Amino acid sequence: MSEWTAVQGLTVAIDGPSGSGKGTVAKILAEEIALPVLDTGLLYRLSGSVALDRGVGLDDEAAVANVVDSLLDAIVWKVDGISLNGVNVTDSLRSESVGGAASKVAAMPKVRQKLLGLQQRLSEHGCIMDGRDIGTVVLSDAPAKFFLTASVRERARRRWAQLKHQSDSSLDDVIEELKIRDQRDRERQHAPLKQAADAIAIDSTTLRVEEVVDRMLGVLERRKLIHATSP
Ligand code: DC
Repeated sequence: MSEWTAVQGLTVAIDGPSGSGKGTVAKILAEEIALPVLDTGLLYRLSGSVALDRGVGLDDEAAVANVVDSLLDAIVWKVDGISLNGVNVTDSLRSESVGGAASKVAAMPKVRQKLLGLQQRLSEHGCIMDGRDIGTVVLSDAPAKFFLTASVRERARRRWAQLKHQSDSSLDDVIEELKIRDQRDRERQHAPLKQAADAIAIDSTTLRVEEVVDRMLGVLERRKLIHATSP
């Protein structure tokens, strides 16, 4: 049993750039407080990946939006990721090429609009959601919002350590790739990566994952959004 119990329907928003550790932190926090976790990046990754598979140009917003439409009813979100037509596709979405496609389709307002409704529906019964615009747009009323950062070098190092068995990219390649993606995510017109005014920033450059989670638990407890589970 989890040590903490969350108030009914609690939503927690965790935003931050690639490699800031939000996915790992969100998963551990979700276990601690027994809430489901949704990595919203997977929705953009799936949209980009299916667009690539179908030969749809990543500069054709209307065509990519049609791809997203065709996916909305076929996506099922489970504890271990997302399934499409009954197949768990989560692992196939982690590659750098899919990440690059995701970042392009994520800049399209029509795509974001379609995925916004889906994300809000999925959060209805409470959840931890991580992404880029969760605190600012998707769950703008969430009672707890965190903005996780880390230096670009540290974020690239983490990503490189994850990727090095599957790709021959050097650390410098990953740093350059991250900088390009950061810029695209921060400078896009629609729902850019940005700290919400009421979000708590945590710089994880020199923190262990457990330390980040402890800080979040502290905030949730002080706000009476979680309480210790009785034995
Ligand atoms: O977190 P990630 O690397 O899986 O995200 C993939 C891309 O999707 C990334 O370029 C940012 C974008 N994204 C977004 O724009 N909004 C979100 N809520 C989540 C991800």
